[in-house]
Amino acid sequence: MSTVRRPLIIGNWKMNLGLNQSIGLAKELKNLVASIYAGPETAVCPSFPHLLAVRQILEGSVIGVGAQDLAPQKPGAYTGAVCAEQLSELELRFALLGHSERRQFFGETDMDVAEKIRAAFRVGLVPVLCFGETLEQREAGSTEEVVVRQVGAAIEGLESQALATLVLAYEPIWAIGTGHSAEVADAQDVHRLVRGLLQEAAGEESAQTTRILYGGSVNSSNVGGYLAAEDIDGALVGGASLDPDEFVKILCYQDHT
Ligand code: 13P
Repeated sequence: MSTVRRPLIIGNWKMNLGLNQSIGLAKELKNLVASIYAGPETAVCPSFPHLLAVRQILEGSVIGVGAQDLAPQKPGAYTGAVCAEQLSELELRFALLGHSERRQFFGETDMDVAEKIRAAFRVGLVPVLCFGETLEQREAGSTEEVVVRQVGAAIEGLESQALATLVLAYEPIWAIGTGHSAEVADAQDVHRLVRGLLQEAAGEESAQTTRILYGGSVNSSNVGGYLAAEDIDGALVGGASLDPDEFVKILCYQDHT
């Protein structure tokens, strides 16, 4: 983490909660965070049908709200899809894009992800580009190649200002939901590689502004280690973000290092 980049910690609730659970979690977070907060920028990403309720509960709190995906098309006849324009009406801050679960279970390609990023920028949502290698790719020594391909395809053609605003999240697939978080040094190596790609694309100044998060079995015990690394600027948290006390401990990582 550098002093020029404000740390960012995002909770990804995935498809885990019912409406009342999302509302309850949002209320608990709002109460817990209001009294103690002087920490990183933060947001939570509920499922589409819960976005409005959660956003209304968190109104006036420091906790922002993001979507977990969006459709790249402009409004029109696309049954079942939710586009960036519809999300922007909810006054969200972020959209997670290209999460490995979208790539794995819904067949999203690098090209789809690139289009979604442009759609998010079209309406002023901050895209959070997720990328990362599978265990097989890691064991085959192709982590770097996979990361360069995924990030390269997503950022191609973006202007420096967009690249400075974009958030990236390195989520090695083998670390997601497994309890096997990446070694800090290994994650740092990937983050440095990605910052190098940003620098090539947009120059040093822009690349120094872009936040690159780590995700994969982050909890209150290991978050401080990641945030201490030079090019790790925050965390994308899955399972641990469903427990309000644990998520708030993660936000207070400086007190726990
Ligand atoms: P876990 O924190 O449950 O490993 O999930 C990480 C993730 O996929 C966040 O987007």
